[in-house]
Amino acid sequence: MVNVLEGKVAVVTGAARGIGEASARRFVEEGARVVLGDVLDELGEALADSLGSSALYRHADVTQPGQVQALVDTAVEEFGGLHIMFNNAGTMGALQPDFLEEDFLTFRKTIEINLLGPMLGASYAARHMARNGGGCILSTASSSALYGGYGIIPYRATKAGVVSMTKSLAVELGKYGIRVNSISPGPTRTPMTAVMDGAPEDKVEELADISMECMRGRMPLGRLGAPEDIANAAVFLASDLAAQITGVDLAVDGGETLGNMENTAEIIQQRLTEALSK
Ligand SMILES: NC(=O)c1ccc[n+]([C@@H]2O[C@H](COP(=O)([O-])OP(=O)(O)OC[C@H]3O[C@@H](n4cnc5c(N)ncnc54)[C@H](O)[C@@H]3O)[C@@H](O)[C@H]2O)c1
Repeated sequence: MVNVLEGKVAVVTGAARGIGEASARRFVEEGARVVLGDVLDELGEALADSLGSSALYRHADVTQPGQVQALVDTAVEEFGGLHIMFNNAGTMGALQPDFLEEDFLTFRKTIEINLLGPMLGASYAARHMARNGGGCILSTASSSALYGGYGIIPYRATKAGVVSMTKSLAVELGKYGIRVNSISPGPTRTPMTAVMDGAPEDKVEELADISMECMRGRMPLGRLGAPEDIANAAVFLASDLAAQITGVDLAVDGGETLGNMENTAEIIQQRLTEALSK
């Protein structure tokens, strides 16, 4: 793709690192100007500096309506408009939440960042886009929204909410020329998968390796995602190449959600062999 976002202005939330950083970089490479929002100000400022005059960083906690609105206002005031709103900020929540013991603080925090955040982003962006010829609203959901699974239940539920919001908003906003889509990454190597709340510092890398390795077994393509894989999908969906695509959740997951049970098959085989050898 060469300059497929030329002339477009984007807001990316959760832009300081991981998938948001890779997307901001790819958006700029493709000709867009980008307002970066995050709560990690040092990283965000450094990224904006490295992207030159095509990027600006603003502190923006996506759970705070005024701060999300300010991102949209900055895009309009500094870059002359807003064509792409990428609601990407997210949190996984606690490392091993026990659903029966929860004090609900993790529930609330996860819902606010992962679901309220994209709703606020979509709402403020749509108000501008509806009056200015349309645009594209994109959100990062997750492959974990697409099937049931053990643990991180608030995370899975909020990401399913993002997929649902996307489909209904696509219906509601189509008449304004606003396309609304989401991307569901599969396991992707980013700081999020290395640093989970509650992980002891000296175990962070080891725990991340174990969980990512287990997940890789479910992926027919046999490799973990890279932030750039998701960023490339975001570039496509945000561009006019996707002009007829709305209400879609695009899985970028190496086939994880196809139901490959390789891990389970291996375990069954191992147990059968053990039973036969007794
Ligand atoms: N990495 C994966 O395997 C994976 C898989 C599926 C979905 N996702 C989703 O992709 C998105 C990006 O995650 P990532 O893997 O790059 O993780 P990451 O932790 O590297 O990046 C998330 C970013 O969001 C920011 N953020 C968190 N809370 C915020 C808030 N209240 N306001 C503004 N910014 C906030 C963080 O500071 C960080 O920069 C998330 O929505 C995540 O749920 C990731």
